Amino acid sequence: MIVRIWIGFVIVFFAYSLLIYFQADDGNLEGKPDAVVLDGWHTWQSKNCQACHQLYGLGGYMGPDLTNIASAPGKGQVYMDVFIRKGTAKMPDFHLNDSEISHLVRFLVWVDKSGKSRVPGGAVNWSGSYSLDH
Ligand code: HEC
Repeated sequence: MIVRIWIGFVIVFFAYSLLIYFQADDGNLEGKPDAVVLDGWHTWQSKNCQACHQLYGLGGYMGPDLTNIASAPGKGQVYMDVFIRKGTAKMPDFHLNDSEISHLVRFLVWVDKSGKSRVPGGAVNWSGSYSLDH
């Protein structure tokens, strides 16, 4: 009896794994980052932006999650440029030069295309996975 239950679990495990595998949709992936994006990422790391900001919900919580700032309504590349260039009362001005700023912006544009940080409740289906179409 116990053995049958275990065999049942194993079958369910493999069936579920196959389901997830075939449901995967990589149509939204951006591919490998180019040299400019990598340079922006290095600045992101060396200035420790993640101490205050999250990507995909991971990071510090003093500032907002920046995963999808590039496509957020009313925000985008110029908006990011100004924030990074000037800083605010709460966000330091890092005195970055023009190319460091534009590469950081390109990095955040690349991150934005890689996925969504917040999954809308309606997009989650019964199996716990979600559709990228939302
Ligand atoms: C000491 C904490 C801190 C660090 C470090 C920091 N930020 Fe911020 N950042 C903030 C806060 C707080 C805000 C929200 C603006 C405000 O409240 O003044 C913000 C806002 C922003 C915004 C605008 C976000 C929005 O949705 O309006 C961008 C873009 C941004 N930061 C980029 C960066 C980048 C790039 C770095 C690294 C070079 C960085 N930040 C480092 C605290 C920080």
